[in-house]
Amino acid sequence: MDGKGLAERVRAEVKEEVAALGRPVGLATVLVGDDQASAIYVRRKREACAEVGIESFHHELGAGTSEEELLGLVADLNADERVTGILVQLPLPGQIDEDRVIQAIDPVKDVDGFHPSNAGLLFQGQPTLVAATPSGIMAILAAYDVPLQGARALVIGRSNIVGKPIALLLLAEHATVTIAHSRTRGLDALAREADVLVAAVGRADTVTKDMVKPGATVIDVGINRVDGKLAGDVSPAVEEVAGLMTPVPGGVGPMTIASLLRNTVKAARYQSGALAFPGA
Ligand code: GUN
Repeated sequence: MDGKGLAERVRAEVKEEVAALGRPVGLATVLVGDDQASAIYVRRKREACAEVGIESFHHELGAGTSEEELLGLVADLNADERVTGILVQLPLPGQIDEDRVIQAIDPVKDVDGFHPSNAGLLFQGQPTLVAATPSGIMAILAAYDVPLQGARALVIGRSNIVGKPIALLLLAEHATVTIAHSRTRGLDALAREADVLVAAVGRADTVTKDMVKPGATVIDVGINRVDGKLAGDVSPAVEEVAGLMTPVPGGVGPMTIASLLRNTVKAARYQSGALAFPGA
């Protein structure tokens, strides 16, 4: 499944939407500490913003930044009218409580969809700003007409960023959803039943060829470094049995960024009153 090609089409659409909006759209990105992977992800997000005409306001804070300092920055960004979206890259250094920071972001600017208000609205079947990775996965599934109604879906991983929200989105499309995690017993048997399998654990070779039902759709969210090379959570040999599969790189990653851009435009619409914000 060509996430890269699909993301290019979404970015072209977003570019037109930004131009038609008639008001500036601005994304604040906040990077705390010196996690190399996070620095790369944030750079890609900012490059994508530039490409579609979204202004980016970037803030880099040192690894020793206190929670108060970060909360102060978030308060400033909440108050800044040029900033229509706020993204604090996770993970944060250990001295900072991530939940407190996420809760400090104005829900209408929460383009990650991590604020409890937005996460709760998704839980209740009223999606507002929905986390970018799960949104991107749903867009890939839709683009390839993957049947979800009544399908058996297995989500491996239960994070707030991917596992839980993708399970809710699949459920909303009437899939029969199972969430598996590190303590799940009998993962192989569960996996073999799945028509749609989403692997989001961050460990290479979590899903091997013998675990996949022939013809199943396999979504690989993992980004792992193995001997200096990029690997997903799914073994490459799974391609031989899967009906459809997302590659790493070029699958979920580019669609995550495209969905973030979509959310950033949606947030600007909420703030201009063009769209009613249920979380207000
Ligand atoms: N870290 C890993 N994925 C994400 C994401 O989608 N958003 C943010 N803010 N941090 C992340």
